[in-house]
Amino acid sequence: MALNNPQIAVRRVEAEDRDWKRQFAAFYADFPPLTHTLKRPHAYFAAYNGREIVGHCVIFQEAGKWIMDALRVKAEFRQQGIASALTRARIHYAIGQGAKEVWYSCHDDNLVTICCHLRFGFKEVGHASHHSAPGHWYRLKVTKAAIKKFNF
Ligand SMILES: CC(C)(COP(=O)(O)OP(=O)(O)OC[C@H]1O[C@@H](n2cnc3c(N)ncnc32)[C@H](O)[C@@H]1OP(=O)(O)O)[C@@H](O)C(=O)NCCC(=O)NCCS
Repeated sequence: MALNNPQIAVRRVEAEDRDWKRQFAAFYADFPPLTHTLKRPHAYFAAYNGREIVGHCVIFQEAGKWIMDALRVKAEFRQQGIASALTRARIHYAIGQGAKEVWYSCHDDNLVTICCHLRFGFKEVGHASHHSAPGHWYRLKVTKAAIKKFNF
């Protein structure tokens, strides 16, 4: 889905400063801690409504793999294309860093996010054992054809 709210700007979080830290903590208050991403090469991306963060996510590198995580959009801003824009921005960033593959995992019952990623060419590749409920890994192979097809 294309971003259809002209007030929303999606971009990389440039400074992990005090304002960002405050919003980050509130945004993921009921999520498992995300501190593991801070210890690895990473980039956060946010959707801003003015200064307010209404969508947030991360891409980080672990053992050579680029992994997307923590995609979340505030309930009142959903179904406007924000998650798709954040995902496109992360993939674009990883490609710029030389990624040949991009990975993510999620619970099997999260059909919205699975559909969102399948639309970008991700394919299911195996069980994800680190989840509290059944989940799978998904992988996007970065090929010239994929870059052209999905306009990354
Ligand atoms: C999953 C989530 C990030 C989607 O955010 P969003 O900004 O509403 O998603 P988008 O508007 O970009 O829509 C992406 C796709 O999902 C579809 N979609 C979004 N919400 C949907 C819903 N409730 N029912 C059906 N389809 C839905 C859209 O139609 C779109 O599909 P399309 O590209 O074929 O048009 C959001 O619902 C969320 O934050 N959920 C809670 C956290 C979560 O589950 N995160 C993912 C963890 S891996």
